[in-house]
Amino acid sequence: MQKCEGRTVLVTGASRGIGRAIARRLAAEGASVVLSASRSGVHGKLVGTLDEVVDEIRAGGGRAGAVTADLSNVNERSDLIHRASELFGPIDTLVNNAAGARMKLPSQANHEDRSFMYELNVNAPIDLAQQAIPSMRTRGGGWILNISSASARQPALPYRDSKDAALVIGPYGATKAALDRYTIALGHELVEHEIFVNALAPTSIVLTQAAEYVRDIGRRNPDMVEPVEMMAEAALELCTGRHAGLITFSRDIVHSTGRKVHSLDGTRVLGDAFLEADIEAGE
Ligand SMILES: NC(=O)c1ccc[n+]([C@@H]2O[C@H](COP(=O)([O-])OP(=O)(O)OC[C@H]3O[C@@H](n4cnc5c(N)ncnc54)[C@H](OP(=O)(O)O)[C@@H]3O)[C@@H](O)[C@H]2O)c1
Repeated sequence: MQKCEGRTVLVTGASRGIGRAIARRLAAEGASVVLSASRSGVHGKLVGTLDEVVDEIRAGGGRAGAVTADLSNVNERSDLIHRASELFGPIDTLVNNAAGARMKLPSQANHEDRSFMYELNVNAPIDLAQQAIPSMRTRGGGWILNISSASARQPALPYRDSKDAALVIGPYGATKAALDRYTIALGHELVEHEIFVNALAPTSIVLTQAAEYVRDIGRRNPDMVEPVEMMAEAALELCTGRHAGLITFSRDIVHSTGRKVHSLDGTRVLGDAFLEADIEAGE
């Protein structure tokens, strides 16, 4: 019996990076997965589309579909859970992964920068959770996982060799701190309804395209980089376990629960919580 058999999952920001990895890992455990991003096609230099990830999952025997919405736009996201539910049925697991960062010094992040980040990184996850909760309650439970960041706290790591990077990540980190606080409260509120709400952050850097600008830091400090499979495995734990209101890190939850880290298709054990990343290969 696979761990997510019969389950219906929505993963936001699943066209590439960490969202794609989580979607693939949950699909490999039998979940029907709805992927979302703001666009379905190719854009700019960024590699990876929703359709490609849907094809990847289907090629491995999984069930996947896609919906699009710019989650920074309150109108576009207002019916996302409803639209996602039309593909495979009611959503019982929501992974709020999509986020955006404007790297600006705290003294210079203007109202537009801050509004964009708070809409996408804080209000969108809360709105989607509130859209999903009624059906989860009716159906007797569910899981909500918010993807956070170590930058919710002023980082000594992973930006120890770049003071500028540690500063410009501050305004984005503030949105993740807000998301963490909301997660704790929502988790404590909903645990009695068997709805398990938690937040998960990479322990260090995952070399997705969004993190490309820190690849040189990773080369100088390989211990500051983790493989994307670590986040996928940690997400699987938090989307199947009975944790509530946790703000946790990928290696911590993998280590404390004794999990083995698997390949994204679920077929191979790659290692444990101390698995290292291939810095040149990235995600
Ligand atoms: N990588 C790291 O080291 C790291 C560290 C700490 C925390 N995180 C967190 O991990 C999560 C994923 O990060 P990542 O590095 O995998 O990011 P990524 O590679 O940039 O992927 C971001 C995903 O979100 C989607 N997205 C972006 N803006 C959107 C919008 N306005 N509406 C809907 N979807 C949108 C993107 O697709 P479209 O562009 O097509 O919309 C893409 O699928 C984020 O919450 C991030 O804060 C990452």
